[in-house]
Amino acid sequence: MANTAFDQLEAIISEIEAATPQTAEDIEQFRIRYLGSKNIIKPLSGEIRNVPNEQKKDFGLLIKKAKETAEAKYAQLQLQLETAEAESQAANIDLSAPGEPLPLGARHPVSITMNKIISIFERIGFNVAEEREIEDDWHNFTAMNTPEDHPARDMQDTYYLKDSNSMLLRTHTSSVQARVMTSTEPPIRIIAPGRVYRNETISARSHCQFHQVEGLYIDKKVSFADMKQTLLYFAREMYGADTRIRLRPSYFPFTEPSAEMDVSCFICDSEGCNVCKYTGWVEILGCGMVDPQVLENCGIDPNVYSGYAFGMGIERQAMMLYQIKDIRLLFENDVRFLRQFASAL
Ligand code: PHE
Repeated sequence: MANTAFDQLEAIISEIEAATPQTAEDIEQFRIRYLGSKNIIKPLSGEIRNVPNEQKKDFGLLIKKAKETAEAKYAQLQLQLETAEAESQAANIDLSAPGEPLPLGARHPVSITMNKIISIFERIGFNVAEEREIEDDWHNFTAMNTPEDHPARDMQDTYYLKDSNSMLLRTHTSSVQARVMTSTEPPIRIIAPGRVYRNETISARSHCQFHQVEGLYIDKKVSFADMKQTLLYFAREMYGADTRIRLRPSYFPFTEPSAEMDVSCFICDSEGCNVCKYTGWVEILGCGMVDPQVLENCGIDPNVYSGYAFGMGIERQAMMLYQIKDIRLLFENDVRFLRQFASAL
């Protein structure tokens, strides 16, 4: 009896090795016969009772070998079947069938607006300078002449990196001014687009992340008139040839004198509407002559060079251009919203 069990097992192993099922159905039959819950190896395992003690170990090993052989063979058969199926699918491919339509995306309104601004300044010789969003305190604040105790440095307004009081998410693209001035010899003529972060309560009008475009021009004898003319050119390219601008005195730590620039409302032609809040003007940027202290902080001699800088928010302009009422729509990535810009350039 014991010997027959050995022989039977050997026979099963040879049978497994020799098996050549081809179809999915035959392979399933193979699985049922050798690996299923009523497989033919199982009753033989019980025979170990009748095997003499000194042969029990060998018998056990043979049972194991039979199972493993069946498992390995089954895995190999399955792989063969899959490959054969893939091959026949490939062979049956209809090259003349129409393709699956690929849905074409649309540019994001912030990108559209940003690209428009960039190309206007590129046309008059400004180069794009892109910089890091994680900044150090020096480039974001100190170099920009922002005093130690300035409220903008407060944790309430600025996102600092965890366990750090010097690394932060830049609060404005003016940090790029410091980056460029410390690494480039004047003349400098750059625009710096990018994302900025402020610890703001999110509402329809403000968000904790938004985009700005910074401009910086440093050379010998750069004047306020140069700045004004450049910004007028920008406003007219952006909002139409009849656009007027208005500079209102303002304050920024890094420019002196400083101003805020309004453009005549292009929605109502200054007649008064809810975009300009019935004033006829919409504010779009901050600007001014680079403070000599900032030049000095960045290693540029203020007795030789002067310059102007400006910074503008992009979301607000995109919202005006496309009559978007809620800034949050720009960050939610809802395709029903984004799809509406498919035809915009
Ligand atoms: N950095 C200023 C802001 O974020 C804008 C600005 C840039 C003003 C350059 C003057 C010059 O509000």
